[in-house]
Amino acid sequence: ASDPLVVFMPSGKRGRVPAGTSVLSAARRLGVDLDSVCGGRGICSRCQVQPGTGSFPKLGLTVAPDALSKFNAVEQRYDDKRGLKAGRRLGCQACVQGDVVLDVPPESQVHRQVVRKAASGRSIVMDPATRLHFVTVEEPDMDAPSGDLERFRAALAEQWDLTGLGMPLPLLRRLQPVLRAGKWQVTAAINHDAGQVTALWPGLREEAPLGLAIDLGSTTIAAHLCDLGTGEVRASGGVMNPQIRFGEDLMSRVSYSMMNPDGAAEMNAAVRDALNALAVEMAAEAGVATEDVVEAVIVCNPVMHHLLLGVDPVELGQAPFALATSDALRLDAAELGLAALSPGASAYILPCIAGHVGADAAAVALSEAPDQAEAMTLVVDVGTNAEILLGNKERLLACSSPTGPAFEGAQISSGQRAAAGAIERVEIDPETKEPRFRVIGSDLWSDDPAFDAVPTGICGSGIIEAVAEMRLAGILDPSGLIGSAAQVGTERCTAEGRTNAYLLWEGDDRRITVTQNDIRAIQLAKSALYAGARLLMDEAGVDTVDRVILAGAFGAHISPRHAMVLGMIPDADLAHVTSAGNAAGHGARMALCSRASRTHIEGLVRRIEKIETAVAPRFQEHFVAANAIPHATDPFPHLGP
Ligand code: FES
Repeated sequence: ASDPLVVFMPSGKRGRVPAGTSVLSAARRLGVDLDSVCGGRGICSRCQVQPGTGSFPKLGLTVAPDALSKFNAVEQRYDDKRGLKAGRRLGCQACVQGDVVLDVPPESQVHRQVVRKAASGRSIVMDPATRLHFVTVEEPDMDAPSGDLERFRAALAEQWDLTGLGMPLPLLRRLQPVLRAGKWQVTAAINHDAGQVTALWPGLREEAPLGLAIDLGSTTIAAHLCDLGTGEVRASGGVMNPQIRFGEDLMSRVSYSMMNPDGAAEMNAAVRDALNALAVEMAAEAGVATEDVVEAVIVCNPVMHHLLLGVDPVELGQAPFALATSDALRLDAAELGLAALSPGASAYILPCIAGHVGADAAAVALSEAPDQAEAMTLVVDVGTNAEILLGNKERLLACSSPTGPAFEGAQISSGQRAAAGAIERVEIDPETKEPRFRVIGSDLWSDDPAFDAVPTGICGSGIIEAVAEMRLAGILDPSGLIGSAAQVGTERCTAEGRTNAYLLWEGDDRRITVTQNDIRAIQLAKSALYAGARLLMDEAGVDTVDRVILAGAFGAHISPRHAMVLGMIPDADLAHVTSAGNAAGHGARMALCSRASRTHIEGLVRRIEKIETAVAPRFQEHFVAANAIPHATDPFPHLGP
């Protein structure tokens, strides 16, 4: 008789294996994704499968009751002690005896899919660089002296066929106590991308280790603490980037470094401390030990990148904007000073696209995948610096544009961060010129009789809406000038020095106005953004785009219509203008959870064509024309007459 036929579901992978082959070996032979931490010792239960029963006409086979071997002693012991779910078998113990259909449940798969919740962006297929490997290490023997590390390595080679792995020194310092605490049985986290052992636990560790996906922005640092088994986000958090005290924007930090011999080192220390504090805080929130965090993936712009690496960013401040390195980096987290993580933790920094277009833009490309679209797609990541991508399957272009912090509420007279009390939505009646607004933390509009919130300022999305609404209500002319009370016909317009301001709200001790300087700051920011997008459109030879994706920490809060009224983004069908939320952060999470994503982005950045805005003569022309609201010459047919 021929060998038994094994069919694995849901993959449908099938093949014949000699009778007596374990299900785990059959899975490996047929390239089926079946997990194992203990290496087939019958203790981790990650290899569980569910055999089918009866006939499977579509597959043309019938599963006999004895298609798998009976429980052996190891499986029986597991079942007695821990209990197997009804019908489940340990793949490393059960052997194939006849034709069989085996279902691999999601928790036994390494490459399970994590669906993204936000509207756009790709879902993640788990393919983590880090896997757990349980090993039994030989005890030391005076007659055959060898080091603990050498015996540990020999065990990995023999039990897992793994050779040539590095062990960072800080982790080597832990090896001896861990081996003894585990009575010569330990679980090692191995980063297969870095080829390193990254953590050790005595005995069998069953829970998946954790990783940090970090979006290191110039203003804020956001991070997700992720389970490297399921991809689930266990905690999320953010802090202000403490480097702000050395300069609000990137160029002022570069100048700080030029003026102060220890400047780069000071800024490096500041960000390192903030990252460690964030890791500690998030581990506490998730109720896990920081030592269980074995990997960090970091995305950031080039200046942040250099300051994180401790490289003086001076070259990034002047043409030709040479990066110290643009490739993806695989480092020990300890080298970056991330001392709060496992002592052997590894770090992966996404590749930079160019001197002004960093790993954050690469992460946005990974998340939003314009390179896989048919439609001409414009992705703008709005922050202190805007990262802009334009293209589709055929071609992808990128640039960055210095918008400054106005979109984040900075440099605005009543500006504030997006926090409770900030005005985030604004509407102005075109007839009466009376405003109504909403503040963060309240569900009511300000004209609701039950509204009792006290606004404290105006945040980025609020100022964008306010300026767009002022234009729509005729309070602003196309050049951005605020009219006087007489011109506009409302007492809300008041003279402030030689210009006018529009009063949004007045309390007992505070007035929230939009001043002429505020309008100018927003005009500068939006012109920079628009000019960058337009420059890429010139390069791509297109006059319109099919799709616009607004990304960025506050991208999710921007109203697409107001962004277009303001002329932040080129004209497009409003139905095709979407918000992606923190796409850079999502890209970091993809790279954390998936080696395939790392390979993809490393290949893609080589294909992305970089456009340098600072030296492009047309950028200035586009910038000046974009100063008008929405624009001096470009048409906006989708905004209507
Ligand atoms: Fe660990 Fe089967 S591989 S129990």
